[in-house]
Amino acid sequence: MQQGQPMIVMSEDSQRVKDKDAQDYNISAARAVAEAVRSTLGPKGMDKMLVDSMGSVTITNDGVTILKEMDIDNPTAEMIIEVAETQEDEAGDGTTTAVAIAGELLKNAEDLLEQDIHPTAIIKGFHLASEQAREEIDDIATDIDTSDEEVLRKTAETSMTGKGTEVNKEYLAELIVEAVRQVTVENEDGENVVDLEFLNIETQTGRSAGESDLLEGGIVDKDPVHDNMPTSAEDADILLLNEAIEVEETDIDTEVSVTDPDQLQQFLDREEKQLQEKVDTIADLGADVVFCQKGIDDLAQHYLAKEGILAVRRAKKSDLEFLKEIVSANIVSDLESAEEDDLGFGDVTRDDEDELFYVEGEDAHGVTLLLRGSTEHVVDELERGVNDALDVVAQTVSDGRVLAGGGAIEVELASRLRDYADSVSGREQLAVEAFADSLELVPRVLAENAGLDSIDTLVDLRAAHDDGDVEAGLNVFTGDVEDTFESGVVEPAHAKEQAVTSAAEAANLVLKIDDIISAGDLSTDKGDDEEGAPGAGGMGGMGGGMGGMM
Ligand SMILES: Nc1ncnc2c1ncn2[C@@H]1O[C@H](COP(=O)(O)OP(=O)(O)OP(=O)(O)O)[C@@H](O)[C@H]1O
Ligand SMILES: [Mg+2]
Repeated sequence: MQQGQPMIVMSEDSQRVKDKDAQDYNISAARAVAEAVRSTLGPKGMDKMLVDSMGSVTITNDGVTILKEMDIDNPTAEMIIEVAETQEDEAGDGTTTAVAIAGELLKNAEDLLEQDIHPTAIIKGFHLASEQAREEIDDIATDIDTSDEEVLRKTAETSMTGKGTEVNKEYLAELIVEAVRQVTVENEDGENVVDLEFLNIETQTGRSAGESDLLEGGIVDKDPVHDNMPTSAEDADILLLNEAIEVEETDIDTEVSVTDPDQLQQFLDREEKQLQEKVDTIADLGADVVFCQKGIDDLAQHYLAKEGILAVRRAKKSDLEFLKEIVSANIVSDLESAEEDDLGFGDVTRDDEDELFYVEGEDAHGVTLLLRGSTEHVVDELERGVNDALDVVAQTVSDGRVLAGGGAIEVELASRLRDYADSVSGREQLAVEAFADSLELVPRVLAENAGLDSIDTLVDLRAAHDDGDVEAGLNVFTGDVEDTFESGVVEPAHAKEQAVTSAAEAANLVLKIDDIISAGDLSTDKGDDEEGAPGAGGMGGMGGGMGGMM
């Protein structure tokens, strides 16, 4: 090899972006993601309509759902989406907030980088600030009596505001609080444990959300397979079956040639016998009811009816999983080896109007939240909203700490972090201040989305907090600054802690990178043949996936 000639160690297709360019590239990708969800924040946030490549439509206000459904094709953007996913897993709500704060942290970090502050100083400062923020949240939070249903309802309502659940939020909040109460048990240490395993959500289209209901036990939205079957069974032995009650088919195609009618009859008799045997096995086990996840042959249906067994076919897997808990059964996937112990025990009753079965167990007290809505899209968004609220209430019941929402907590945190910054030496101090500024994004965006002046709002909020009004937040409906805790905008402390922490961690992860080496085009979609020029404005595949969102 000749002297002075650079040695090429990377393949021709690979791309490398370094230092400032790498930071710019990453920060703009992360910010683009945050921008995309900002407009959905708060009660006056708008919804997004997402159309996937198959043409199916999702209409939602839920941060994590938007980000998951968007066809994002950029490695950095995906790191920010993980923030939303973590928030969803850990807290169930606050996904938009977490992502928006992460974006704002990076925006403010960019300014610090411009001032030649080294990324490690920013990272350190952000880390210190997020640790301090957690402590402050704990200090600011109000401890509630977890049996106080009114405050629980408020947390549920706050998390449902601005979602498809909005119109019926009071009624739904009542159902949600009651549902959580029913699945809450106290452990030996006197702590509340909420077991959402015993809570099932079912959806039905056709009526309005106001006609949703909370039901004891589980439900199966199916009809009996045969008219001559009983439609209900008390103190029933219940078989949950994950095997078809049909003639077993051979794996390979076989051709049977029959030469005389007797042979054909024999063949059919054999099939009949096989079905009869299966039904006999079920009857011998002592089952009064069979919920079968797979198919049931016509003839078997007839035999089952003759035995007086109530049978349902093609029950949903999730329903069986839930019923398993309710009636304490095992799901049987091989009839031959099934034992009496595998059966569960409970009452099965029929609701003729809604055409579904209620299943109640003896010991396990599971509940089903039956959500109704006019159309599929309405019900789907309703379910997402209710899921958030369920998590919020469950968390509040087990954690017991709540905060004033509407930006109150963020402004208070910002003010305390600014005080804290004075005790931090060096350039880290600037990062702590930038962190405080970033938290104030929440009230600013809440105001913006409500058509209010975000600067005026922030000035008013800061003034109120300087006067010691820890719970001063924005009433997005009137534009006034008021005690939001009093007016019923209440959020769980745990979700806020999580949002702040994961936003800081994600921002730091992005800031630490000064070199991007990509084996190909800088997008995660290997099939994308468009050249994504990184650095100046080029964001790999971001353009296509996100263009329409902003
Ligand atoms: N009535 C209200 N007045 C003022 N602010 C409110 C009110 N209800 C909720 N908020 C605020 O709205 C914010 C939550 O908005 P939103 O539910 O859209 O986003 P998120 O919870 O961060 O994300 P997601 O629900 O999509 O996971 C919180 O800051 C909360 O305090
Ligand atoms: Mg929310």
